[in-house]
Amino acid sequence: MIEKINKLKKELNAVILAHNYQRAEVQQIADFVGDSLELARKATQIDADYIVFAGVDFMAETAAILNPDKTVLIPSKTASCEMARYLTPEIIHEYKKKYPNAQVVLYVNSTAACKALADITCTSANAVKVVNSLDSDTILFGPDSNLAHYVAERTTKNIVPMPPNGHCYVHTNLTVENVRRDGVLMVHPECPPELQNVADVIASTGGMVKYVAKSKEKRFIVATERDMVARLKHDYPDREFLPAWDNAICLGMKQITLESIYNSMKEKKYVVTVPEDIANKAKKAIERMLEVS
Ligand code: 13P
Ligand code: SF4
Repeated sequence: MIEKINKLKKELNAVILAHNYQRAEVQQIADFVGDSLELARKATQIDADYIVFAGVDFMAETAAILNPDKTVLIPSKTASCEMARYLTPEIIHEYKKKYPNAQVVLYVNSTAACKALADITCTSANAVKVVNSLDSDTILFGPDSNLAHYVAERTTKNIVPMPPNGHCYVHTNLTVENVRRDGVLMVHPECPPELQNVADVIASTGGMVKYVAKSKEKRFIVATERDMVARLKHDYPDREFLPAWDNAICLGMKQITLESIYNSMKEKKYVVTVPEDIANKAKKAIERMLEVS
């Protein structure tokens, strides 16, 4: 399968981008593996005809918005981010009415239609920097209420979570009980505040990779999606990484397999498209984020 994928990749002039939560074998055949900010940035630097996106829908949409001249393929139609469903354009309009002077910061884990209504997007790697770059004192921040809490603790601005209960099922179910073990505790900011409070470091998935590079410690507890450990073990084979919980699995991410990647390239499916008017507006919010961070 790996040989067949590499052959097709050459024929199509395609690159494969993969998120840190992808299965180990998918990470291994990818041209680039990263967090959502690194992947968005990489998408602007690619010289290829096809981008095959091994990640979830909003990430592939972001790549398509940034690359209108390339074909972006997502290997599965069901590779979706559940958190993105918490926010709709209607909810944003409601909040904007209630807070007319506020600016809107949207986590990239949101639909393109929502991003089109944002002043700027952010990821967990740059959320505080993005919020602090804005003029307004009140920020409507969505859809992740846990990331909103993380930002609120680190800025003087008034952060309004939009909606109040947006979350990721993979991270919300991680508990303090899961991490009572010896080792440096790395926690993703999508985790609940009680877990953030006991962390040695709170970081995006890319931030975790960088943190281990600088650390001299040998053992790490990884409080995020289980396969983040695959990325860390690959980069640092001399260290020990323990997933906080073996059942912390993002089902959307796991829809992508070697077979679906092969079929995606063979049949040129599924092409990711975003209506032009939405794409143009969303692009401004994403590009503003890339400039700030
Ligand atoms: P990162 O930006 O840290 O890769 O996170 C993306 C994500 O979806 C986490 O659940
Ligand atoms: Fe979305 Fe959660 Fe999966 Fe990240 S882990 S892509 S936030 S559902």
